Amino acid sequence: MLFWRVKPLEKILETAEKKSLKRQLGALQLTLLGIGAIIGTGIFVLTAEAGQKAGPAMMVSFVIAAVVCALAALAYAELASMLPVSGSAYTYTYGVLGEGLAWVVGWALVLEYAIAAGAVSVGWSGYMNGLLASAGLELPGALKAGPMDGGRFNLLAFLIALVITALLVIGTSKSAKVNAILVAIKVAALTAFIALAIPAVQDENFKPFFPTGWGSPLGGVGVLGAAASIFFAYVGFDAVSTAAEETKNPNRNIPIGLIGSLGVCTLFYLLVSYAAVGAMGSQPMLGPDGMALHPGTPELAAACKGSEALVCSREPLAHVLRVIGWEWWGNIIGLAAALALPSVILMMIFGQTRIFFTMSRDGLLPEFLSKVHPRFHTPHVITIITGLFVAAFAALFPVGILADISNSGTLFAFVAVAFAVMVLRVQQPNRPRPFRTPLVWIVCPLAVLGCLLLFLNLSMYTLSMFLGWTVIGLLLYAVYGYRRSHMAPGNQPTPPAPKIEPEPRFHEGPQA
Ligand code: ALA
Repeated sequence: MLFWRVKPLEKILETAEKKSLKRQLGALQLTLLGIGAIIGTGIFVLTAEAGQKAGPAMMVSFVIAAVVCALAALAYAELASMLPVSGSAYTYTYGVLGEGLAWVVGWALVLEYAIAAGAVSVGWSGYMNGLLASAGLELPGALKAGPMDGGRFNLLAFLIALVITALLVIGTSKSAKVNAILVAIKVAALTAFIALAIPAVQDENFKPFFPTGWGSPLGGVGVLGAAASIFFAYVGFDAVSTAAEETKNPNRNIPIGLIGSLGVCTLFYLLVSYAAVGAMGSQPMLGPDGMALHPGTPELAAACKGSEALVCSREPLAHVLRVIGWEWWGNIIGLAAALALPSVILMMIFGQTRIFFTMSRDGLLPEFLSKVHPRFHTPHVITIITGLFVAAFAALFPVGILADISNSGTLFAFVAVAFAVMVLRVQQPNRPRPFRTPLVWIVCPLAVLGCLLLFLNLSMYTLSMFLGWTVIGLLLYAVYGYRRSHMAPGNQPTPPAPKIEPEPRFHEGPQA
């Protein structure tokens, strides 16, 4: 079953969108690109979740997640450079491990991209709500969060997802220039935060340092539980690996871009978490049994009512600054987050539509989904469906739960990718590899183990959602994709891709 109905790599390359792109990106641009795609809700919002799970030891969690991410990124980059086509891990798996597994991975990527877009929408709403409240325009509590988080319907998260979807339908793309400006805003905001909060650091705020210990499998708390959540803060580096085709000397520049952007982000994340914990403390809220309450549960929402604790804030970085007396700067950080996060939502929804688009072209999803709009040249049907799905989840779920569910899909996909890299090295050792994973027989097994470790430290709730989602996916495959696949005997082969709007990341077109 594993190797069954493999779509030969030549076929994948033949039917892919033809994007003859110039090799123009160097190491610095790649690093900036990576930073632009990586920094988002993770550091701006999930710092509170990480504090609830691990207390001050969240700093250790940031390092663990960074190491796992770097290993996975090095594996990912080899396949991305060999198959510079849409579909990400889904396509790689199809070409190496076969259709059944590719479907499961593609289905898991829905969690990675669409659910992540929902998480970032909720993160954005936290900061926007804070800004509105500061301006005296506070929304009613019921409209500020979903039902599990002390509200009813997260109105702003719902609206931002719809606005971004509309922009994608009309083909808005993000230019390299806009990316550079947004990177500057995010980096400046984090730098300002560090500079203002570090002078307020007090030693007592780090004690106890490990209030919840390392955590246990399926426990969803502790240092490993927090690492599994905070992994979200590093997702997005695939922007670097998928740019292999546009990179000068990819063998040198891709690893510099990957490790460089992950390294810069790790440094910022460590300084930010050190400053936030040191300035305010981040002890978890405990339940009646003395155990840390799970983020995103009504119990935590109830315990947090009226609390000023860092772990209760929906806009933790702005909150820390307000509490230590920098009210105005708190609003500036909020504004920076509000400006910068929508571009992360845009990239995530975009990524999702391209994966569905590829799956539908392969016959695994109905063909009408890959219809391209005659005027905008965008896959509008799938974009609208994805956007509605994202908006609904954003309106109803807390950010921590969405981020964890998204991580489950991402980690699963990364395991498949690292595995596929090893299989392909054995099966086709002489195939040209513009980028080769260094020390592949150490890096890939460690990537698999690291991703599995984090995956298993997500909460039981998250993993049951993942399992439920996978079962639904397998049923769909059994009743639809299995027979309709263009690889099934007697069916038409996958037609070449129509021309659609290029990736938004480097396109110098109308700006977002
Ligand atoms: N790394 C991205 C974020 O934190 C997904 O928002």
